[in-house]
Amino acid sequence: QPSAIWGGRFTGGPAAAMRAINPSIGFDQRLYAEDIDASKAHSAMLAHQGIIAEADDAAIRDGLETIRREIEAGTFTFSAALEDIHMNVEARLTELVGEPGRRLHTARSRNDQIATDLRLWVRGAIDRLDGELAAVQKALIEQAENGAELVMPGYTHLQAAQPVTLGHHMLAYVEMFGRDRGRLADARKRLNECPLGAAALAGTAFPIDRGMTAEALGFDAPTANSLDSVADRDFALEFLGAASIAATHLSRLSEELVIWCSEGFAFVELSDAFTTGSSIMPQKKNPDGAELVRAKAGRVIGGLINLLTVMKGLPMAYGKDMQEDKEPVFDAADTLELCLACTAGMIADMTPNAENLRAATQRGFLTATDLADWLVREAGMPFREAHHVTGRLVALAERTGRDLPELTLAEMQAEDARITEDIFGVLTVERSVASRTSLGGTAPDTVRAAAARARERFL
Ligand code: ARG
Repeated sequence: QPSAIWGGRFTGGPAAAMRAINPSIGFDQRLYAEDIDASKAHSAMLAHQGIIAEADDAAIRDGLETIRREIEAGTFTFSAALEDIHMNVEARLTELVGEPGRRLHTARSRNDQIATDLRLWVRGAIDRLDGELAAVQKALIEQAENGAELVMPGYTHLQAAQPVTLGHHMLAYVEMFGRDRGRLADARKRLNECPLGAAALAGTAFPIDRGMTAEALGFDAPTANSLDSVADRDFALEFLGAASIAATHLSRLSEELVIWCSEGFAFVELSDAFTTGSSIMPQKKNPDGAELVRAKAGRVIGGLINLLTVMKGLPMAYGKDMQEDKEPVFDAADTLELCLACTAGMIADMTPNAENLRAATQRGFLTATDLADWLVREAGMPFREAHHVTGRLVALAERTGRDLPELTLAEMQAEDARITEDIFGVLTVERSVASRTSLGGTAPDTVRAAAARARERFL
């Protein structure tokens, strides 16, 4: 038979496939707390404006708190025939308090209701994620402090380039996650306007006070345009965009962990808590945590593409298509939270192998740039010429199976007579990193200062 909610003009009921595709209660029940909060604010405003009686408001707000308790106790029965969280709550409210429950929907629509609920939910998710991103930053900063002196190869093209410190490498990710927090905070600022009172799309003839509901729900202001209020989901897109970028950063970090704990590198050991064994190869310790964080970025990015695609062709104002906004948002938030928890744990537990990190710097002529810089500084050579002289010395070292500091002074002077004994002072990796004291550079003292600054900026 026709729907109990809107069946007035209907004689027939929905088909089975329609009953399967139409409801959102399976996923939007997660919005129960936001829905109840928004309904309480709406009811109080209706009473304040004399649109409903104070006694109705009191009954409504009481009933809504009962429903909150029922849902939290797991005794609430959700009904797919009632489609969504809004109708499930309202129907139960009417069961509980009778007539006043039927007055709650005055001067609002599910369209402004859902826009309000989802904004509130995303705002809460942003606040949780901010703390979880900070926890990852904290683990990275602690590794940076412990690793301020640990030399390792820095790479470009995954080819050994110049020596850096592990601490410096950790702090690079601290910056990325700091920007992720900034992006989420920006999204939060823009989403913090209240759509409630836009009603279905055109506003309402009732003398509502939108400022009052906006304030009660912690919004900065009501939204300015009723059509936009019910039609816009760019707050969800921005959230998914920021989440996708953060997930991408987590994925890159995980990729490095996978490389670093592989046999060929052995730069770090991951803890038992974030690795798994093999059912056949007893020696294995696999970085499954890192691999899954790397892979789950795909889900978050998928959510962004999903919702962009849903939204791109929708005319004003509300369309049922928008009901499909929730699952990608929930999934992205859940996935990101899981990945952040896993990453914070993996980084906190990670044990760097100082010998292997340093040993890797002894291959690949990492101090070639230091040699060239010395020629510029001490011999007054133009950098391009110094580059060539150094290149010839690297070729000689490579041909004869040695590292740069193992060349003799005579061999070097044969390439350029201006080279002196002093050169050997700059050819060790420790000297190389210690010399990189420019702002944002990799020298241990600079890294220690940067870690201290990062604590102030982020923790
Ligand atoms: N469940 C709907 C959603 O998630 C709520 C709004 C429904 N509005 C409507 N006019 N059917 O978008």
